[in-house]
Amino acid sequence: MIFTRITGTGSYLPGQPVSNQALIALHALDSSDDWISERTGIRARHIAAVGETSSDLAFHACQRALAAAGRSANDVDLIIVATSTPDYIFPSTAALLQKKLGITNGAPAFDVQAVCSGFVYALSVAEKFIRSGSHQCALIVGSEVFSRIMDWSDRGTCVLFGDGAGAVVLEASNSPGVLATALHADGSHADMLSVPGQIRGGQVTGDPFLRMDGQAVFKFAVKVLTEVANEVLHTAGLTVDQLDWLIPHQANVRILQSTAKKLGLPSEKCIVTVDHHGNTSAASIPLALDEAVCQGRVQPGQNLLLEGVGGGFTWGAVLLTF
Ligand code: UT7
Repeated sequence: MIFTRITGTGSYLPGQPVSNQALIALHALDSSDDWISERTGIRARHIAAVGETSSDLAFHACQRALAAAGRSANDVDLIIVATSTPDYIFPSTAALLQKKLGITNGAPAFDVQAVCSGFVYALSVAEKFIRSGSHQCALIVGSEVFSRIMDWSDRGTCVLFGDGAGAVVLEASNSPGVLATALHADGSHADMLSVPGQIRGGQVTGDPFLRMDGQAVFKFAVKVLTEVANEVLHTAGLTVDQLDWLIPHQANVRILQSTAKKLGLPSEKCIVTVDHHGNTSAASIPLALDEAVCQGRVQPGQNLLLEGVGGGFTWGAVLLTF
């Protein structure tokens, strides 16, 4: 039987952290450090430089993940990038990343667009490729420059997001690995969180900025994150107390705390990075995973539950032994 294991993690954050106070001053926002940190847990985020793209951030994260896995770029035979802020309409960010990494072996490369659930979607897809025996070594990336789609006059959204990238190397293995995956979507909630702009005839039509019904997203997120966590635990035949770490999408510390509480998981077992990363959408889970690995908190053999929720609406989870 073929299993799939994460053999290396890496991440990249552009520039220096931008504090709430600095962001408020930069954009003359009617807000405060107290409001942002009390309502969201966010204290700082990183913002990509002008001209720095998702494939640039992904490139650095992937180099680190490959080094951690002891792999060279041409060992990779599958590249999947989760992003809602691609460099171009096409080619895919994954194809651009392939070129930047110098991968010349013809490995397939494509993007997955599931907003903040993108990384668990991409990881679940790659796991199926590897388990089928068709591929052996996949690079799975979440990379975002959400600063590009912020309306800097909308204090209800622009203080929440940040830029960054995280990557994992996923390989075929004789021992588990990924234990269970679950993916879901419900397009009837599309308007709750969207960037409803289009390009037509050389013009941007509609609204090219992120719009969100924050309270509706909050309630929906806690509900489905709890449900999908229980779903993968049930599929794998594990109980909550057998989990070593919950690594959820990092949107709001109150969402993380509520989800952990509903699951009956001690809050110390929930990895939190939203305080210094903000919400980096598809990048948030691999960024949090890599930070916890680098800090020595996540150890080989531990059971991790990765889960995300985002625009679409989409949600999903991956339960794995690290
Ligand atoms: O990846 C998934 C994407 N997003 C999320 O997961 C976000 C989920 N939602 C949330 O995190 C929260 O709903 C928010 C942080 C977005 C908002 O927190 P809230 O406690 O739901 O606040 P609210 O929207 O009910 O707004 C309360 C007040 C309003 O003022 P009034 O109408 O009571 O006078 C807002 O205008 O806070 C005001 N407000 C702000 N005040 C200062 C909204 N944004 C700000 C701000 N600074 N940045």
